[in-house]
Amino acid sequence: MGNMAGVAANNEEAVQAWNGVLFERFVQYRRIVTEGLGAHGEVALRLHPPRPGERVLDIGCGFGDTVQRIAAVVGPKGSVLGFDAAENFIEMAREEAEAAGLDNVEFAVGDLQVTEFDRSFDFAFSRLGTMFFANPVPAMRNVRRALVPGGRLCMVVWRRKLENDWMHRAELVVERLVEEDENSDEPTCGPGPFSMGDADVTSQILLSAGFEEISLRRCDTEIQIGTDLDEAVAFAMALGPAGEVIRLAGEEAERMRPELAAALREGLAEFERPDGVWAPASTWIVSAISP
Ligand SMILES: C[S@@+](CC[C@H](N)C(=O)[O-])C[C@H]1O[C@@H](n2cnc3c(N)ncnc32)[C@H](O)[C@@H]1O
Repeated sequence: MGNMAGVAANNEEAVQAWNGVLFERFVQYRRIVTEGLGAHGEVALRLHPPRPGERVLDIGCGFGDTVQRIAAVVGPKGSVLGFDAAENFIEMAREEAEAAGLDNVEFAVGDLQVTEFDRSFDFAFSRLGTMFFANPVPAMRNVRRALVPGGRLCMVVWRRKLENDWMHRAELVVERLVEEDENSDEPTCGPGPFSMGDADVTSQILLSAGFEEISLRRCDTEIQIGTDLDEAVAFAMALGPAGEVIRLAGEEAERMRPELAAALREGLAEFERPDGVWAPASTWIVSAISP
């Protein structure tokens, strides 16, 4: 590794993970991820709607489904820039937006922590795309600087892992059976999905970045983590904290897959219903103003 263009040295590992193994797994579980996260994104957009004609930045836009969603709201006089550090996500997002015939969207690849934008935005949005920066204050300061005076930020971030019991439970199950490999060469996703789960930490990051009028609104919904228990187990083994422990443990965990799957089945069985596996998921919908 080293000298990735436009990426801070301390984010290189995370970007490698996002553009590689995590991209592949997000593609594989796209339906679960985007529908589950989608419910939280919809609440955020209902509480903090972009307005027709506005210029919007979508941070860590992934497949770009929120880019397309916001493009429809801001209309032909507005525009959306989908921004992500992983080229693979942006390539896919760009192709899909083109196929949908949208001409008020653009995409760019870059590390938010070190990017200075060449334009101003009225609104910055992110659905679970702001938790992975090694240095969140400079990153969020870049966002604040890219906003016009009075510009709004709205971001969805996971609340603590403990409040997202299916992920926590799956991690405990896996940790009981597999030893974490601290010397693994596998890239990790940086500070990780729960780095903004603490309301005080997150509001302080935004204050330090120069934001004002910060609010955090708790959002709780149930999300479908699988159409059946088999899919929920496979999903837990691929993504999230349990998936991460398995991935970092490498061959040892690979050998134990059947045992891990059986233990996870038991651990997640409580969430099974006739219409699939549904677990409570909890996020903060964070809003702030750039003065
Ligand atoms: C959990 S995914 C969320 C994707 C999308 N917003 C969604 O809701 O489906 C996190 C996204 O943040 C991106 N990301 C991670 N670190 C980043 C960075 N330093 N700068 C910009 N994007 C980053 C990842 O590549 C990934 O697409």
